[in-house]
Amino acid sequence: EWTPQSIQDEIDALKHKPGALLPILHAIQDRFGHIPKDAVPIIAESLRQTRAEIHGVISFYHHFRTTPPGSHVLQLCRAEACQAMGARSLEAHAKTKLNVDYHQTTRDREITLEAVYCLGNCACAPSIRIGDRVHGRVTAEKFDRLLDELTT
Ligand code: FES
Repeated sequence: EWTPQSIQDEIDALKHKPGALLPILHAIQDRFGHIPKDAVPIIAESLRQTRAEIHGVISFYHHFRTTPPGSHVLQLCRAEACQAMGARSLEAHAKTKLNVDYHQTTRDREITLEAVYCLGNCACAPSIRIGDRVHGRVTAEKFDRLLDELTT
């Protein structure tokens, strides 16, 4: 759980570097899983920027989220090697199965679907990552099986 002080600590550790905003946003999301809305005024004040500027950056980069993710973050690779091995149909399957688009969380708050560009597992394309684990040669059937393992 974040607190204003913990947000401030992350900011203070990085704010003196040039271009501090992006590293600060990454640090906050890495630590708390998202960038809480109430962090925005704290960041704005610390960096002497407007809230609108901070919001603009957060919404420009798809990586950042302002609501907590589901219990599991599922990243689906959209880069070339995976595309060549059927990532597009896997993507369609994943979206239908989970009933979400990229950057959204399932209704039961179990899974957040994210796009990613190469997981370093191109030889076993198409690849996905669930939490810290990368899975290769993911067919629709394997995808369903991995999901079942997560939720049972
Ligand atoms: Fe998908 Fe490298 S292109 S893992």
